[in-house]
Amino acid sequence: MSLDAVLARIDADLPNATERLMDLLRIRSISTDPAYKAECDKAADWLVADLRSLGVDASKRPTPGHPMVVGHAGDAEDGTGPHLLFYGHYDVQPVDPLDLWDRDPFDPEVQDTPQGKVIRARGASDDKGQLMTFIEACRAWKEVHGSLPGRLTFFFEGEEESGSPSLVPFMKENTAELKSDIALICDTGLFDPDTPAITTMLRGLLGEELTITAANKDLHSGMYGGLAMNPIRVLSKIIAGLHDETGRITLPGFYDGVPELSNSIRAQWESLGFDDQQFLGDVGLSVPAGEQGRTPLEMIWSRPTCEVNGIWGGYEGDGFKTVLPGQAHAKISFRLVGTQDPLKLRETFRDYVRAQLPADCSVEFKGHGASPAGVMQTESPAFEAARQALTDEWPKPAAYTGCGGSIPIAGYFKTVLDMDAMLIGFGKDDDQIHSPNEKYDMRSFHKGIRSWARVLAALNS
Ligand code: BES
Ligand code: MN
Ligand code: MN
Repeated sequence: MSLDAVLARIDADLPNATERLMDLLRIRSISTDPAYKAECDKAADWLVADLRSLGVDASKRPTPGHPMVVGHAGDAEDGTGPHLLFYGHYDVQPVDPLDLWDRDPFDPEVQDTPQGKVIRARGASDDKGQLMTFIEACRAWKEVHGSLPGRLTFFFEGEEESGSPSLVPFMKENTAELKSDIALICDTGLFDPDTPAITTMLRGLLGEELTITAANKDLHSGMYGGLAMNPIRVLSKIIAGLHDETGRITLPGFYDGVPELSNSIRAQWESLGFDDQQFLGDVGLSVPAGEQGRTPLEMIWSRPTCEVNGIWGGYEGDGFKTVLPGQAHAKISFRLVGTQDPLKLRETFRDYVRAQLPADCSVEFKGHGASPAGVMQTESPAFEAARQALTDEWPKPAAYTGCGGSIPIAGYFKTVLDMDAMLIGFGKDDDQIHSPNEKYDMRSFHKGIRSWARVLAALNS
């Protein structure tokens, strides 16, 4: 059977596939830092060249930010399956704090660990290793069959890690070119090491940065302390008021549009047997700290959150300085679910802060991204076909899961292009994405490639 030939080809080519991934991982494509603009460009060029080597008609497409990569293979007459679009992102997160890395984040290495072989580098899991699982499946397919399966569009972004500012305009300007039957996204995780997942719910994200100013300069805390307003005190009180004693968020109207889980999803999630003690234990914690009365999976998959991502001001250096700061800063993000409206919430949050400012204090806001939650429609037969294909590859049957993270494009496929998105990924909870020493298991890479070959076969049969 030809799928077996493709799988055999994948097995035989794994060392070369690993070399190609390591090549891509050497490119320092940090999208949020303007110093790496040329490197983002280089990653886009690398992908264009690699797609062209597969016979894909690929090009780098400029945007006001980092370029997109778009490629096409096959046409309407090709294949029997749906026109598939594959999405991934070639940009990566910053690497700081650099001193916590065991090696240069952009000098990838295959390492033997007690848990098996891993590829260690920034972006190994998020998202270069993941996006290459699909490209490598295509390569093996092409080598066996002489052409790619059916009609395929490739779409790679270089701004996912910095809020995707160019994405919606680009999708709107290129609707006809991008419109396909189904979007495949490889940027999520396995449910557990043996259980593959199709993610059907992603949370949205609202990012806000604020600066509260009191005095027009930093002051001596002996000379002014007690008399002058301290903006860190003001900021802390505002932040402390965002949650009540039961872990609920206090902003007025915050829970508008937050749905209760349907009984069928609740039952499905319960059957997954999620081990929250293990999940928390792995990071040195033991007690779920979300809203009272919610299960741990609800807390991370289907409930909205408010988190302080950073807070600073005054003197933070070594030693001690008796300063009464003139300014206080924080970065705060909200994970959103259901139909919570990020832009409405931004105004609610800003009003809430302004209403609590005492005399002599002022506030400035900076918005960082606002994307709604995404719920995937799983009714189309393609979902059951893909689920079976994944089940064939992994020790345990594939699960439909939620995901606490955000991938803005997943929702935009529906709202801008009226397409369903299918999220299949092979990351693990311990991949340390966004953190020092990021890695991707060789098993994720290898079985990920094999999984895509099976999914492509299933969708084209
Ligand atoms: N691949 C992640 C999303 C993700 C996180 C999937 C965890 C599965 C598990 C994505 O690259 C990401 O990091 N998204 C950001 C949002 C973005 C707008 C900066 C996130 O979720 O914080
Ligand atoms: Mn990602
Ligand atoms: Mn990420």
